[in-house]
Amino acid sequence: PDTGARNTRLRFEPVPGSKTDAVVVPEGYTATILAPWGTPLNGQANAWKEDGTNSAEDQANAVGMHHDGMHFFPIDGRSDDGLLLVNNEYIDQRALHPDGPTQSETGQRPADEVRKEINAHGVSVVRITKKEGRWSVASDDPLNRRYTSATVMDLAGPLAGTDHVKTAFSRDGTRARGTNNNCGNGYTPWGTYLTCEENWPDIFVNRAETLPADQQRLGIPTEQSRYGWETAAGDGSEKDGEFARFDLTPRGDDPREDYRNEASTFGYIVEIDPFDGQRRAVKRTALGRFRHEGCWPGKLEPGKPVVFYSGHDARFEYIYKFVSEANWDPADADPRDRLATGAKYMDKGTLHVARFNDDGTGQWLPLTPDAPTQQNYSTLGKELGELPEIILNTARAADLVGATPMDRPEWGNVDPHNGDVYMTLTNNDEREIDQLNAPNPRPRNENGQIIRWREGDDGSFRWTIFVFGAHAKAPDYINRSALTQANQFASPDGLMFDPRGILWIQTDNSDNAVAEYTNDQMLAVIPSQVTTREGYATTLDTRTQEHLKRFLVGPNGCEITGFAATPDHTSIFVNVQHPANWPHDEDATQATPSGNPVRPRSSTIVIQRKDGGEVGV
Ligand code: FEO
Ligand code: CA
Ligand code: CA
Ligand code: CA
Repeated sequence: PDTGARNTRLRFEPVPGSKTDAVVVPEGYTATILAPWGTPLNGQANAWKEDGTNSAEDQANAVGMHHDGMHFFPIDGRSDDGLLLVNNEYIDQRALHPDGPTQSETGQRPADEVRKEINAHGVSVVRITKKEGRWSVASDDPLNRRYTSATVMDLAGPLAGTDHVKTAFSRDGTRARGTNNNCGNGYTPWGTYLTCEENWPDIFVNRAETLPADQQRLGIPTEQSRYGWETAAGDGSEKDGEFARFDLTPRGDDPREDYRNEASTFGYIVEIDPFDGQRRAVKRTALGRFRHEGCWPGKLEPGKPVVFYSGHDARFEYIYKFVSEANWDPADADPRDRLATGAKYMDKGTLHVARFNDDGTGQWLPLTPDAPTQQNYSTLGKELGELPEIILNTARAADLVGATPMDRPEWGNVDPHNGDVYMTLTNNDEREIDQLNAPNPRPRNENGQIIRWREGDDGSFRWTIFVFGAHAKAPDYINRSALTQANQFASPDGLMFDPRGILWIQTDNSDNAVAEYTNDQMLAVIPSQVTTREGYATTLDTRTQEHLKRFLVGPNGCEITGFAATPDHTSIFVNVQHPANWPHDEDATQATPSGNPVRPRSSTIVIQRKDGGEVGV
């Protein structure tokens, strides 16, 4: 095994748990607000208003709400200038509007409110620069822009142009409108951003008597949508089914005359060229359709396929791996046409799903028409159809081939020193004793764990659990990693290796014993320094748990999510999502004065060392 991280040490003093309206970072560090919800990106947006009266047009030209996954794309390799691409996962309607969401007596939402909500979702592209040690948003930069739940995008891969995705908006099935509930993210070896559609089923409603199998499997609501966007169609101001498209109920005989297929244009990995605002974003359907948390490249080797890992974040769902048909050509690391390179590696290939055996081995099961199903000596082709039908019903295909249902797969990432893959399994409070297996070994799992695997030959792998979340005082069969008060955590979600081999772990916890002790947090560990003789990172235990250190605690009510860093590691960027009251001012560590309620704002914060050195070491 590569031991490149041998000389790296986590030199910060860990922070204690905290339950305040402030961000807590180690001694010698600063945390500063950088790009909160509502920050204008160009002259078409008014400044953010404390009273919630910004318009839908303002929101289309300003940073979106509820920041999640993100990535920093340096300009000319610099560490003081670049583009931050930030997912805006969902919205808080109470904070978005002056007095929360409204509707008419007959249940119709006002079109302007709905447009503002649609524009608060998606992705924000923000040019940021650092001068004299201080980062700020470069307003009016021509690369600043938004992708929202209404932005026109291309469909590519097996579903593109099929009957499944033909709608009144795109009668040939080549275009889609909007990306939604963009949770985790990813990036490619050729310099593009990946944004991932997670809880998008909830923006739709389908009142038909029987739902298509894929919609049933993914949980499209049958009574009401999450925000009632479809109800705004009633006021007559919409064009091209702007709002009607969120109601999937078939209206006639021809699918191209209504929006029954609209949901089939969601649930994908979406590729964006950060440096080209003119090109449309592309939905890469070959990587599967489900509640995609994120999408991360595996170990990259010249002449071998490019692989991407992705988790389906719902209870008892699966972990996936896409293997490209084309082999990696290092000349593609800096291509002239990034989206054409994306097409080369992401539109053709084989999607697999993971089976974890209790003996520590595992297999990647291909989701192809000739793949055998577990029962009846059948194949996916016989059960579901050709590749487009298999992709449309990815989760069902995974059921049929015998994949292992996991405790809510969230973020994954690859150790730059040895290619080991890590993925968070955030929690699963519905797993019963008779549903336990080795990778998901705790019933009513409210704490979560991080699983790790090393790829082998012929689609096999070996896996272990790297760390179990738990309260320090929980009994040993729960607190299996011997966490202490100094590093107890639960519900791991965000997960990112930086190039130094430091693994940053972020939490999205709710009600449990750890949440009583501390708000959500970010911890750091260097797995390649915690190894067994075979070179695997071992499961953290009483001998090794002190390697895991708490670096940051967020303000009340928030989750900590999203991680990006400058190439020189002197600035790291983290998102504070859905805080209860925060922030008070630009100093993220400043608590909101009690008794002075403010409109909470999710935000990207930047963390730096006061002496300008590398963060974390
Ligand atoms: Fe949006 Fe799975 O967290
Ligand atoms: Ca989130
Ligand atoms: Ca998440
Ligand atoms: Ca989560």
